[in-house]
Amino acid sequence: MPDKIRFSIVGFGNIGRRHAGQILQNPNTELVAVCDIDPSAKSALPAGVAFYSGFAEMLEQTKADVLCVCTPNYLHEPHTIAGLKAGMHTVVEKPMAISVAECDRMIAAAGRTGKTIFAVKQNRYNPPVQEVKKLMAGHQLGAIYMMQVNCFWNRSDAYYSGSDWRGKRDKDGGCLFTQFSHFVDILYYLNGGITNAQGSINNFAHKHNTEVEDTGSFVLKALNNAIINFNFTTCAFDRNMEGSITIFAEKGTVKIGGQYLNTIEYQQLATATLPHINITAKANDYGLYQGSMSNHDKVIQNVVDVLLHNQPVMTSAEEGREVVRIIEQMYEGAVS
Ligand SMILES: NC(=O)c1ccc[n+]([C@@H]2O[C@H](COP(=O)([O-])OP(=O)(O)OC[C@H]3O[C@@H](n4cnc5c(N)ncnc54)[C@H](O)[C@@H]3O)[C@@H](O)[C@H]2O)c1
Repeated sequence: MPDKIRFSIVGFGNIGRRHAGQILQNPNTELVAVCDIDPSAKSALPAGVAFYSGFAEMLEQTKADVLCVCTPNYLHEPHTIAGLKAGMHTVVEKPMAISVAECDRMIAAAGRTGKTIFAVKQNRYNPPVQEVKKLMAGHQLGAIYMMQVNCFWNRSDAYYSGSDWRGKRDKDGGCLFTQFSHFVDILYYLNGGITNAQGSINNFAHKHNTEVEDTGSFVLKALNNAIINFNFTTCAFDRNMEGSITIFAEKGTVKIGGQYLNTIEYQQLATATLPHINITAKANDYGLYQGSMSNHDKVIQNVVDVLLHNQPVMTSAEEGREVVRIIEQMYEGAVS
């Protein structure tokens, strides 16, 4: 491995540019090439970074150690497999893919090539999530009884009209993949697995510009026996309102709240006191809409830590696949 890990990126839209920014800032990484089918994306690149509008051409002509796959959801599988076959580790944006079958082919390709897939689940790094993870790992909450997940966001007409993939069933997959897979991941991260899912979904306000649901309500059962209420909508009026997880347990109640799991909003704990956390300025802001907490610096640092210092992968391909499996299970268990 060279002193600096060489990165390339496929897909230079909202999130590809965020990856580029973090790669350029990290002292141990270098951005060598970017590919986007839209040639106008080139104008946003700093000098010295090669630009390609053809992916095959970039793979042939570039020597990189890692490929960041930042294309729309339905392209994660082919772009990841092509990157692995070209000899690169891959960082794949969320969702890892939009079916378990795709994830399985990606994992098989990683096995064949001996390269690593890093699944992006940057909300795991949110300080309130880490505090609650530590509480649970130290058994300080005792038995987990119930969790309430509320994802009340807004996605406007402009968000969908400016895109050729968002809201399309075969390219986007649905809100649980594109907007709320982070929350499914945190449930999995905290509880260790989901065994059952039943619910209802409907498209109330986005029928004219999407083929998927915009609202849903589910009851899930976790491996640790917890009952989980999972409510989501992209119809919160005018703006994102809330992204929260409340945990009711034997030895305490705690709410991770804010718009994107960025605060400890409530705590009543038998054996611990969590620090006051109220992060207000770190959402990914895409102009027309707001996303999750901006922890991509930590995603890139994890790649450095794994490749240069033998540290563990924060979110493995197998975990990315499990999140996709849970989402498939939720859609299979939904009436509309
Ligand atoms: N982790 C997060 O918080 C987060 C936030 C936003 C988006 N995402 C994920 O990142 C991915 C991209 O989302 P986005 O918001 O950046 O979308 P976007 O539409 O802004 O960008 C996608 C880019 O990919 C390019 N592209 C499309 N097909 C291509 C191809 N065949 N070859 C090369 N380039 C191609 C498009 O021209 C576009 O520039 C999605 O999977 C999304 O779910 C993750």
